[in-house]
Amino acid sequence: MVLEKDLDYVDTFGILPLIEKLSTKPGTDVWDPPNLLLSGPSGVGKTLLTAFLAEDLGIPYLEVNCSPEIKERHLRGGLVPKGTSSVEFIFGTASNAIMAANELGRAMLVLDELPTLSPLMQKSLNPLTDFRRKVELPEISTHLEVMRHCKLWVVATRNTLSVEGSYELNQDLKSRFIEIEIPYPPPEAEKSIIRKLLGMVDENALAALVAVANESRQGESSYALSTRDLVELMTAHPRVGWHDTLFLTAQKFSAEDRTFISTRIRDITTITPNHSLVSRLIPT
Ligand SMILES: Nc1ncnc2c1ncn2[C@@H]1O[C@H](COP(=O)(O)OP(=O)(O)OP(=O)(O)O)[C@@H](O)[C@H]1O
Ligand SMILES: [Mg+2]
Repeated sequence: MVLEKDLDYVDTFGILPLIEKLSTKPGTDVWDPPNLLLSGPSGVGKTLLTAFLAEDLGIPYLEVNCSPEIKERHLRGGLVPKGTSSVEFIFGTASNAIMAANELGRAMLVLDELPTLSPLMQKSLNPLTDFRRKVELPEISTHLEVMRHCKLWVVATRNTLSVEGSYELNQDLKSRFIEIEIPYPPPEAEKSIIRKLLGMVDENALAALVAVANESRQGESSYALSTRDLVELMTAHPRVGWHDTLFLTAQKFSAEDRTFISTRIRDITTITPNHSLVSRLIPT
């Protein structure tokens, strides 16, 4: 449960010191983090940051991959059949997080893509995310709550671009979180993230792909290249070469957007990428 992945988060906006200050009671070294909601477009490192923070602090990391299908039993727990004649109670992730916090003193519960939880499920999170820090377990006639001197840090993420499968975030739930919106990094910062992650890179290719990514973020296409995409494409570059990297860049876009992105790629690199694999047909 405690992450050991050697995660690398590049903090271009000084978010780490901000979170550290938010999490410390003034004049003390008492750790008292507020619920945190990290929002922003896809691929800017929101989920990575949650994992990085937990790994850095060496605290257990429990994650709910939110979706409209998440039910009470996944969060709190529920009764499941055991054999043919009995049932047993299986704890959900929020309950496990409370138990981990009580056992080890601290734990992090990550609610990834929070607005994709149904409004009813969002509502059910209120007692967990305020001073009560508890979940009711009526099925086994009890409740779980975070003990005094123990901390359960609730960190949520929200993709501000993808509305598919998303609901409006309940105002009362939203008000229980401190929100930090992470934007796309400016070009120089984005280049330095990629250099830090990948080491030596082809600077011309990097500059060109960052420029293409910025064009794709102006709202003219239905897809925008993210920092994640740039990491993937710059990883592919030394393996497949420049032309195929540009081909793979164009492949990220839907057929309707391919002309738009190919034109931008041509303007920036003077190369028009192939639109589809058909143009690469090997004669038989
Ligand atoms: N600041 C950063 N530091 C390190 N890696 C980053 C950073 N920003 C983006 N990345 C790269 O992007 C990848 C994806 O990050 P992550 O999955 O956390 O994005 P996200 O914001 O949660 O996206 P989504 O909204 O699609 O879930 C990382 O694995 C890494 O390769
Ligand atoms: Mg994410």
